[in-house]
Amino acid sequence: MTTVTVKASQTYDVTIGRGLLDTLGEEAARAFQGRTVCIVSDSNVAPHYLSQATHSLERAGFTVLAFVFPAGEEHKNGHTYLSLLEYLAQEHLTRADGLVALGGGVVGDLTGFAAATYLRGIPFLQLPTTLLAAVDASVGGKTAIDLERGKNLAGAFYQPKAVLCDLDTWATLPADILSDGCAEVIKYGMIGDADLLDTLAKGDFREDPEEVVARCIAHKRDLVEQDEFDTGSRQLLNLGHTIGHAAEKLGNYTDLTHGQAVAIGMVAAMRLSALLGNEDLTAPLIDLLKHIGLP
Ligand code: GLY
Repeated sequence: MTTVTVKASQTYDVTIGRGLLDTLGEEAARAFQGRTVCIVSDSNVAPHYLSQATHSLERAGFTVLAFVFPAGEEHKNGHTYLSLLEYLAQEHLTRADGLVALGGGVVGDLTGFAAATYLRGIPFLQLPTTLLAAVDASVGGKTAIDLERGKNLAGAFYQPKAVLCDLDTWATLPADILSDGCAEVIKYGMIGDADLLDTLAKGDFREDPEEVVARCIAHKRDLVEQDEFDTGSRQLLNLGHTIGHAAEKLGNYTDLTHGQAVAIGMVAAMRLSALLGNEDLTAPLIDLLKHIGLP
C-alpha cells in the first residue's frame, strides 16, 4: 500500500493498494461527522461494487443511500447534477453528512461538483475505479459537469477528504478502459517523467500497477500544491486536453472516450510544438499510443 499526501486548501491522503473498498467505512468515520452517506455511482460500476461499499459503511454505523445514474460522459450534465441535488435534499442530507464517488472520472467529477455546491459544500470521498480516474480525475479537486457548449464548463475547485484507489476494483475493467487510462499516464511521461514512457512500452505494469499509479499521483500532487487553481504550472496537466475536449464534444461524448481524445490532443499539441521550432516528439508519441491501443 502506498500513500501520497496532498497539501492543498485541504490536506488529504491518496491511498493506493488492494482491499481498500472494505476500509471505506473507517475512512468515512474519519471524514464525516454525520451518520448518513450517499454513494454516487453509475450503471457500469454499481452492479460490481455498490453492495461491498454499502456493507463497509453500514458496518461503521452509517445509514447508506445510493444515487446511481446511467454510465457515460453524455450523462455528466446539468440534468443528472440537479437530480442528484434534489435527491440529497429529499433525503435531508446535512452538511455533517457526506458523499462517496464510486466510479470513474464521470462519477468523480459530478459527485465532486454536487459536494461543492449542495448546502454550499458537504464533504466527499473519492473511490476511483478506473486507471484514468485514479491517476488524474480523482486527485486535485477539479470537479465539473458539461454544458451544451462544451466539456467541464461548470465546476468548482473542491478537494475530497480522502481518495482510496482500490486496485482490486480494476479486476472487472475491460482492456480498452485500461488502455484509455494509459493516455493520462503517457501525459505524465510527456511532461517530464520519461521513464514512465519506457514502463508503458514494456506493458508489464498492468500486473502490478501500484507503483505507476503512485508515481503519477505524486507528479500531480507536486503540481497541485504549486498551483491549486490552475493559473500556472498546473496547466501542464492539461496537455492534450484543449483539442481533446473539442474532439470529445464533436463526437457527442460517445464516439471517443476521454483517453482516446487526450491521445489525439497530445499528438496535435506535439505537432503544433514542432511547428513552433521545438524538438519534434510526434513520431515516438504516435508509436507508443498505437502500441497501447490508442488512436
Ligand atoms: N486534469 C487536469 C488537472 O487536474 O489539472
